[in-house]
Amino acid sequence: MTYIPSEKRYQQMVYNRCGQSGVKLPAISLGLWHNFGGSDIYENYRKVLLHAFDCGITHFDLANNYGPPPGSSEENFGSILKKDLAGYRDELIISTKAGYLMWEGPYGDWGSKKYLVSSLDQSLKRMQLDYVDIFYSHRPDPGTPIEETMSALDLIVRQGKALYVGISNYKADEAKKAIKILKELGTPCLIHQPKYSMFERWAEGGLLDVLEDNGVGCIPFSPLAQGLLTNKYLNGIPEGSRASKGVFLKPEMLTQPILTQIKALNEIAQSRNQSLAQMALAWLLKDKRITSVLIGASSVAQLDDNLKALDNYQFSTDELKKIEKILN
Ligand SMILES: NC(=O)c1ccc[n+]([C@@H]2O[C@H](COP(=O)([O-])OP(=O)(O)OC[C@H]3O[C@@H](n4cnc5c(N)ncnc54)[C@H](OP(=O)(O)O)[C@@H]3O)[C@@H](O)[C@H]2O)c1
Repeated sequence: MTYIPSEKRYQQMVYNRCGQSGVKLPAISLGLWHNFGGSDIYENYRKVLLHAFDCGITHFDLANNYGPPPGSSEENFGSILKKDLAGYRDELIISTKAGYLMWEGPYGDWGSKKYLVSSLDQSLKRMQLDYVDIFYSHRPDPGTPIEETMSALDLIVRQGKALYVGISNYKADEAKKAIKILKELGTPCLIHQPKYSMFERWAEGGLLDVLEDNGVGCIPFSPLAQGLLTNKYLNGIPEGSRASKGVFLKPEMLTQPILTQIKALNEIAQSRNQSLAQMALAWLLKDKRITSVLIGASSVAQLDDNLKALDNYQFSTDELKKIEKILN
């Protein structure tokens, strides 16, 4: 069926300025790490993607290695773009990354200029795009001078293959260095993508301050701790869930102390008339330094649940205290 986007798509979403840049991102963005690969169902992920766009999600996040198999998420995303969203490219912020193993030999991994430039060329082919909006160094590379990785990002922008650049998984001191070098090169760092949720809080130990001080945006990934911070695992491990697949979220991560925390958090969410997923996203979005939260979703129902986080992301001091007590 021919897809016609909802005319109301810009009415519900909140758009936040990304650091001190000119670009705004939706408060909720969609990532294609899982659920969009070669082994997933086309009609399902097409529905999720188009529903996201209908709800004002303008930002889609990919990486060279997303799938499985690696590269298949970019290919699948490219086909939907071409078939359904061809007339809407200018309404989209598309990001991709390179930094993890993508091909054999010494040039298919980490942070050399050789790898980043060739990888982005491959990503553009897979997505059938002339340029991406944001290109990331997916992780810092201890074996490559940070100057080389940053100059690859600068080169890519000058070549017109990306409009903006970002960094992901860089600790506070590494991020500070990267941001400084990029600034000197004349290609400011737009955004940082750290793992950040109620269950993963290293970003609070300096990184968020570095980003704020330098006018760089922040888009936490896995804000639902891959589904742990939802009501999904309250009564066991459902068939087909990420934990049931046991690759990135292992069943043994659902320990008794974690389950006790999830149950207690769920009670606070209920007292706020929210689902746990909504409260977990709201808890991140309450901080002005957070530009957008980067969720994953395996169904339209999950997406709709998560989007309602925007109805309330204010917390009382008492609620915050109770949450801290559960988490500590
Ligand atoms: N930069 C990096 O190194 C890096 C690393 C990881 C991820 N990322 C990015 O971040 C994105 C999001 O990561 P993520 O998928 O781990 O995020 P997440 O939002 O923490 O987890 C998403 C998963 O949680 C479950 N879920 C989502 N909403 C739900 C709801 N309302 N109720 C019940 N279950 C729900 C679904 O799992 P089921 O499949 O079980 O239904 C879904 O696939 C990725 O797609 C990628 O773009 C970046």
